[in-house]
Amino acid sequence: MWGLELESHQDRQGRKQARLHHPDASAAGPGAPAPGKIHVTQPYLPPLEEFTPYLEEIWRNKTLTNGGPFHQMLEAALREHLGVEHVSLFSNGTLGLITALQSLRITGEVITTPYSFVATAHSLLWHGNKPVFVDVEPETLNLDPAKIEAAITPQTTAILPVHCYGNPCDVAAIQAIADNYNLRVIYDACHAFGVEDDGGSLLRHGDLAVLSFHATKVFNTFEGGAIISPDAKSKQRIDHLKNFGFVDEVTVVAPGINGKMGEVNAAFGLLQLKHIEQALQRRAEIDEAYRAGLTGVKGIRCLPQTARGARNHAYFPILVGPDFPISRDTLYERLKSRGIHGRRYFYPLISDFPMYRGLPSAQRSNLPVAAEASSQVLCLPIYPALENFDVQRVIDAVCTACARP
Ligand SMILES: Cc1ncc(COP(=O)(O)O)c(C=O)c1O
Repeated sequence: MWGLELESHQDRQGRKQARLHHPDASAAGPGAPAPGKIHVTQPYLPPLEEFTPYLEEIWRNKTLTNGGPFHQMLEAALREHLGVEHVSLFSNGTLGLITALQSLRITGEVITTPYSFVATAHSLLWHGNKPVFVDVEPETLNLDPAKIEAAITPQTTAILPVHCYGNPCDVAAIQAIADNYNLRVIYDACHAFGVEDDGGSLLRHGDLAVLSFHATKVFNTFEGGAIISPDAKSKQRIDHLKNFGFVDEVTVVAPGINGKMGEVNAAFGLLQLKHIEQALQRRAEIDEAYRAGLTGVKGIRCLPQTARGARNHAYFPILVGPDFPISRDTLYERLKSRGIHGRRYFYPLISDFPMYRGLPSAQRSNLPVAAEASSQVLCLPIYPALENFDVQRVIDAVCTACARP
């Protein structure tokens, strides 16, 4: 189960450092170093020397951005890797969301989830759209299709669901509602890199899907993102919009934005793709170890991974229920005091932030499932360089957290 050896420089460094902190290595004698800090994630970095040739090429050809050769290569490589037809790279996922909404000319009210990263709803405010929050399903913590219809008004134009933690939304039910009410669907797929359902890439669903390649994501380009379009015409419009609306040297068709990905980021993405399979494999092993180690711990529920095809193990959320002897926040603090920095994703709910909390749909009574999950969730550390003994350290810390502060 623990077999994988990652042969990256970064990993070798990580191992060396981690060994210093390993309780066995230090023999826990007097003056032994305290166990190292573990963060909820750590970006995957391939060996630096593998990146140098890409930089040399950029220095040679002096193309830094504006759809340069690495940009074009990464779009092609992602089409192939993800099994989708049209990819538009972006400088980050937020600009991808903003541009996706602009490209579909979304106005008025948009139904979305309160249980996400704040950029989901912020993208709506950037266009003066009104977010309408709908509660989530208890199993996946994704937008609950059964509650969408009641939130539709004559002003509703679109649905903006999130494949939270890389777990697929109920795409069939959401599409059926959208078809019935003539609504557009834009998936915030920022957590869903490489995830598949039984028909292929999850990113094929909806009118558009938006990815993030932020440093914290499974696949990162330092900062970055992409929009997946269903056809060439949609991609072309998006490509114009991400370049200020320029169609040619003298023609600007819309008030577009600067959302372009630069060559260094695109080159880094190409290199990352070479390592992605082993990174995902290691994430899967850690996921399995957590589930095995936390099975039977009363009051702790590990959120299942529900994708029927490929999964990406982007996060490892646990829910700390009332049967656990201490609250989620106490557990969070106790883990932190032992150097384990989990994150309460997603707490607070987006609907609790000041720019949203006045909306009628933001009321807690409208969002009971999301509110409960937000008060119970804690994401445990998961990233390719996380060592087995650190995984065990996290499991032990959760299991013994109630015993001693
Ligand atoms: C669900 C979700 N939506 C949007 C974003 C924004 O992406 P970015 O940070 O690339 O702008 C993120 C993460 O960062 C996210 O997790």
